[in-house]
Amino acid sequence: MWHLELAAPHRVEGVKIAVLTGGGDAPGLNAVIRGVVRQATADGHEVIGFRDGWKGVMDNDWIALDVQGCRGLLTRGGTVLGTTRINPFMRDDGRDLCKAAFEANNVDALIAIGGEGTLSCAQEMYKLGFPVLGVPKTIDNDIGLTEMTFGFATAVDIATEAIGRLHTTAESHDRVMVVEVMGRHVGHIATWAGLAGGATLTLIPEKPFDINEVCASLTERHTRKYASIIVVAEGAKPIPGTFNVPADTFDEFGHVKLGGIGELVATEISAQTGFETRTTVLGYVQRGGEPSAFDRVLATWFGVEAARAADDRDFGAMIAYQCGEMNRVRIADAVEDLKYVNEKLYGVASVFFTTNAVGDPDVD
Ligand code: F6P
Repeated sequence: MWHLELAAPHRVEGVKIAVLTGGGDAPGLNAVIRGVVRQATADGHEVIGFRDGWKGVMDNDWIALDVQGCRGLLTRGGTVLGTTRINPFMRDDGRDLCKAAFEANNVDALIAIGGEGTLSCAQEMYKLGFPVLGVPKTIDNDIGLTEMTFGFATAVDIATEAIGRLHTTAESHDRVMVVEVMGRHVGHIATWAGLAGGATLTLIPEKPFDINEVCASLTERHTRKYASIIVVAEGAKPIPGTFNVPADTFDEFGHVKLGGIGELVATEISAQTGFETRTTVLGYVQRGGEPSAFDRVLATWFGVEAARAADDRDFGAMIAYQCGEMNRVRIADAVEDLKYVNEKLYGVASVFFTTNAVGDPDVD
């Protein structure tokens, strides 16, 4: 069994902590980095940042991170370290290259900030003896054991603001507006933004939809000349046999390529109901720009707690936001399964769907 035997740390007073950011970017990533650097520096440690996720580890491509260098990062979107979805286990020499980088830089702890792909890789590294711990990151909020991931709240704010703007143009033209949002294989962004934005209907992967039911409810609603907003998660699926969608295609990392379901739903609504229908795909706008105040706090808290876990050499741990507290769980447990939309919350959202609107549905 291949096992890493890291050289013992050479420094007594402080250690070297490395950080990497992997997977899709998210608002708040830089705030996590700033939190790590501030706490680690206060603990007398040194921090470096590998560039472009695990790629930077394999390439031994890193930058020094210090308090001065982190000025302005609290509010800055994206990640100053860059990110990729590259996985060292997809290369024969990946592990050895990572080992070489750890030893060349005397890395005593690595904080991997990423989604289920980056964290699963961190878990495999940990099992090989690498001193690694994780911080959950994704706008999708699909990582287990943490109630919230930073970036999610900002994505919901962005999508909600967009939905609010679409209401007025839909009402002006008495149109059906279909809004496709991100979220990969779960519907957290769609559910929260649909509820916050007063959507007529919200379609999510966790609850396959019947396009005929969607059209029938819109037909009934539009008898009173009222515009509709349909929020569709990019991973939403029709009930098999009710609606033809193209076969899945895959990206270079083997992930299903998502996107396009919104336009398919809009086209079918238009064909079945005859209503003027338009589609808006929010796409990467949901990942861009400054983190919200909530995400700045959450991301900073994740970063500070990660530095404390590194100081405790609590490897294999993932920082998790639970019941208003930051706890430490095991990466292995967190990445076991995706976190799906809470059925009770979706039930609350459903109260406002047009299909349930007996009485006066003209008030969203
Ligand atoms: O995981 C975050 C996310 O934005 C998903 O919501 C989306 O499906 C995916 O990343 C897009 O991946 P990429 O940035 O590689 O196109």
